[in-house]
Amino acid sequence: MAEARVVERFKKRTIWFHWIHTAAFLVLLITGAILFFPGIGAPAAGGLTRFIHRIAVVFFVGAPIVYFFLNPRMSLHFIRETLTWGKEDLQWFSKAPDYYFGGAEEKMPPQGHVNTGQKMWQLVVLGTGILFLISGCLMWFFKDVLAPSVFGWSVVIHDIAFILAFLMLLVHIYLGIIHPRMTESLRSMWDGKISKTYARNHYGKWYGEISQTEK
Ligand code: HEM
Ligand code: HEM
Repeated sequence: MAEARVVERFKKRTIWFHWIHTAAFLVLLITGAILFFPGIGAPAAGGLTRFIHRIAVVFFVGAPIVYFFLNPRMSLHFIRETLTWGKEDLQWFSKAPDYYFGGAEEKMPPQGHVNTGQKMWQLVVLGTGILFLISGCLMWFFKDVLAPSVFGWSVVIHDIAFILAFLMLLVHIYLGIIHPRMTESLRSMWDGKISKTYARNHYGKWYGEISQTEK
């Protein structure tokens, strides 16, 4: 029988937030790609995809703002965690290739609530999020007053963020859904729970801490 999944990894509100934000992101990705690739730009000429891009922005920006005000402590923790890097992360980088290609689990240094790779994704999400916001608002609200060169740079920055976020999203999806080692990942982003063994093997440092406070 499969082991009971009793360790809370994500709260319900975090799961809601993740999927609402993902839906908005995917709409932005598709409507953005239509503008980005001239060959498929025809639908954009009518303005519909541009309009949808702007509607999705409201959710893409609104969801984190609402989440932040409802959960300020968790949100600040997320930002702090994303920006804190140290020697342990270097150790993770040196061991990760072996681990992700099937090497022994025990050789990996114990990880916190997210591992270094996930932290890297968080950094990309936060960093590109800020770039999208600034460059996007410049293009949206200040088109008529900006010097053409500044407008041009906004487009370039928006495009760089798009390429970076898209490539990393492919890795994120692969690890979340397909990688043979991440057996409980997707379900944890559905009902919030993982088994004790999975918690111990993947997030040993974090599991050690939360099982201490439970006692
Ligand atoms: C803060 C959020 C965002 C804002 C305010 C924003 C705003 C904009 C605006 C105003 C445009 C110009 C559209 C036009 O020509 O009418 C644009 C284009 C574009 N957006 Fe966004 N956007 C945001 C997020 C995103 C995200 C998350 C993606 C993709 C993952 C994305 C991808 C693109 C792409 C690829 C273009 C086409 C740029 C080009 O012409 O090469 N945007 N965005
Ligand atoms: C179809 C697309 C997506 C899928 C299937 C997906 C899946 C997942 C899964 C399964 C997890 C839990 C990972 C774990 O702890 O085991 C996760 C976490 C997370 N996701 Fe997504 N996600 C998607 C899109 C996105 C997007 C678009 C963003 C941000 C713009 C995002 C941001 C995050 C963050 C910050 C985490 C926590 C850190 C991490 O575990 O990497 N996800 N996602």
